Parts: sequence; structure tokens; C-alpha cells
Amino acid sequence: MRSPDQRLTSEAKVTAQSMLLDPSNASTNPVENWRACFPEIIGRSPAMIAALETAAKVARSDSSVLIMGESGSGKELFASAIHRLSHRSPQPYIPLNCAAIPENLLESELFGHERGAFTGADKRRIGKFEAASKGTLFLDEIGDMPLALQSKLLRVLQDKKFAPLGGNDLKEADVRVIAATHMNLEAAVQRKSFREDLFYRLNVLPVFVPSLRERSEDIPQMLEHFTEITNSNHSAPSVSFFTDAAIRMLCKYSWPGNVRQLQNLVERMVVLKGGGAISIDDIPSDIIRSIEGQKEQAIVSTGADFQPNFQQASSAMPLAIGGRKQIAIPDQFGVLPEAGIDLTSFIEGLENGLILQALERTNNNRNQAAKLLGLNRTTLVERIKKRRLAVLNEPSKEL
Ligand SMILES: Nc1ncnc2c1ncn2[C@@H]1O[C@H](COP(=O)(O)OP(=O)(O)OP(=O)(O)O)[C@@H](O)[C@H]1O
Ligand SMILES: [Mg+2]
Repeated sequence: MRSPDQRLTSEAKVTAQSMLLDPSNASTNPVENWRACFPEIIGRSPAMIAALETAAKVARSDSSVLIMGESGSGKELFASAIHRLSHRSPQPYIPLNCAAIPENLLESELFGHERGAFTGADKRRIGKFEAASKGTLFLDEIGDMPLALQSKLLRVLQDKKFAPLGGNDLKEADVRVIAATHMNLEAAVQRKSFREDLFYRLNVLPVFVPSLRERSEDIPQMLEHFTEITNSNHSAPSVSFFTDAAIRMLCKYSWPGNVRQLQNLVERMVVLKGGGAISIDDIPSDIIRSIEGQKEQAIVSTGADFQPNFQQASSAMPLAIGGRKQIAIPDQFGVLPEAGIDLTSFIEGLENGLILQALERTNNNRNQAAKLLGLNRTTLVERIKKRRLAVLNEPSKEL
């Protein structure tokens, strides 16, 4: 397994580590400080700098990390960077995508098996926990882990011991776990598809990777970065570059597939152009239509974003009444985004927005709000409590 260290210059790593160990080594500019720790992660928008700062701090601890963010936003990149900055960096970094392994093989993938443990187990095989010994195990798409295995994982994280399938001897699990998900795990806990105790065990140090939509300032640099890479990988007669007008246009797009979508689009456009200026006319028509659709969207006032929003869903940041911003309905509302969607979170976000509006319109009278929403009062109150939609001690204005 190639260590993420190898992708970076040792100079960057030394700078980052010395700065983390002794903050007096850092320059006085906090943006440059956090940027210096993560040369492989592009972006200097406030949302990205905040995420980098959290990641750098998290790297110093040995507790479990839960990285949350939309698909293609860079969760895997953050996971490997956190390992690289941690004291475990000389040891292995072992990634495992829980969604990519069939359910019946995942347990053996994690803990290994002894010879004869099951039909077809003709020799002993070590699992990822053993392979990651003293290092970091990255459990990607943790929200897709089957419930039965979630219990086993929890036990290993608590006892710091595991037994391979078909074996009785317990082995030490000296492993730091970094998990990642594009799902709203709190919502998954509520609908009982994710164990609450495992959620809290993993969510000791949460890291939110912002979507590209939340940091469109970073788009020009991203376009330049991926154009440079594609230019150097494809030997066209002349290099390609985006015109300023094309860059401005792409900054207005909502990028439902985040950085992965941008990276793929740049590669496609650069290769198809084969050199020279890439202008607005070269941008695929579905993207132009989507940008134009956005402009025509009505601006509505709502308390919750229609997109699943991990930060809003976090228990650290409960949704609150008041102080709401004006937001446009996303252009892809009602249209399944290319990258797919967490339907449950999406519907929940939509419901939360309507509940908040009903509470505000009725001055927090839960009887009247329930009538406005066609719900009975008990159902509404339950939902408010469960989703922490109102300040708990705020009395209802019913007479
Ligand atoms: N800030 C960034 N700077 C440079 N490259 C990035 C950045 N964020 C993401 N990428 C690149 O975008 C691609 C997708 O990133 P990554 O695989 O880390 O996303 P992810 O959040 O794990 O996606 P998924 O949820 O689909 O697994 C990768 O090729 C990654 O290197
Ligand atoms: Mg990933």
C-alpha cells in the first residue's frame, strides 16, 4: 500500500509537523498556517480554511474521527492528510470502502479469517485491522456498514481487541479509526439504520468537508489545478486554458458532484479541446442550462436548506428559529442530482423547513402550526423534539 506521505514533499510535512508541535514556528498568518499543512488539498476559502484547521487539530489526537461531507467533496483526501499529519504517519494507512465489499465478506475483510473459517477459506488471511496495526484504518462509507457488523466494530473499538473469523485468540487492535460518510448519520440513527452508540464512538472528532457550492471562491484555482494536471498527462500540441468568462460561468454552477465532478469535467473539456482557449461555448449545454435555471429560480425564505446539510444536522449546531437567510431553491430541486442523493435527509430537510415556517407563522403556537401542516399536535411536537427544531425550553404560545 502506497503511503500518502509519498505523495508529498518531505519539506511540506516537516513544516506542517513542526508548526503543529510548536505553534511559535508558525507564521503570523493563520490562513497560510493551515494551508501549509495540506499542500495536496486545494482551497483557501473561509469554509475550507475552517475545515483544514479542524483537520490539523484532529490529527494531533488519537481519538476516532468522523469525516462528513457530500459525495466527491474530498473526504478521502482529508482522511489520508489527517493520517499523514498524525504521529502514526510512519505506520500503515489502510483504507476500506464499506460500501464496495459484499456484506458476507466485510467481516473477514475487517478482522481476517483462519483457514477453514468458512467454505472457500483455504488459507489464513489477515484483515484490515491487523494490516493497519499501529497505523490508521480508514473506514469509508461507514453509513453502509450492516447493523450486525456495526455491533462487532463497536466492541473492537471499545475493547481494542479482535478475533479473526474462525479463531479464538484475541489480537490487539492498536489502530486509529477514521470513518467517513456522505450520509446524514444522525438521521440514519433516528431511522435505526445506524447504531447510536457506534455513532457517538466514531463522532468523537467530527470534521465537515464543505461542498464546492459552499466555497465557490475556490473554483478558479481548482480549474487551474486540474487543467494543469490534464495538460501534463495528455500530450496535445498546445496546452489548454479556461478563458476568464468561462471561469466566471463555471463559478455560478452548483456542482452537485463536487470536486470529483469538476475534475472529470475539466479532464473531458481539456482532452476534447486538444489545446488552446476553452470558452463558454465549450461548456456542456446541461451545465449552461442548469446555471440559467438557477438564475430564474424564485428566492424563497426558508429555515432549512433543501440540500442535506451536514452542519445544520449536527447536534452541535441545532436548527434554530429566527435569523434565517434568504436562499434560492437549488436548481436541481426535484431533479435527481448526477451524484445521487440521500433521500431521507433531503425529505427531512424539506420537512424541517416547513415545520419551522409553520412555527414562525403561528408565533410558536404548536396547535395552530400542526393544523397548518395537516399533522396532529403530538406528531408535530415529537418531530420538533426529535430533530431539535425549537429551543427546548421555549414555551408554546398556546392558550
Ligand atoms: N480540495 C481538493 N483539492 C484537490 N483535489 C480534491 C479536493 N477535494 C477533492 N479532490 C479530488 O476529488 C476527487 C474526489 O475526492 P474524494 O475521493 O476525496 O471525495 P469523497 O468525499 O471521498 O467522495 P465520495 O463520497 O464519493 O467517496 C479525488 O480525485 C480528490 O483527489
Ligand atoms: Mg470517498
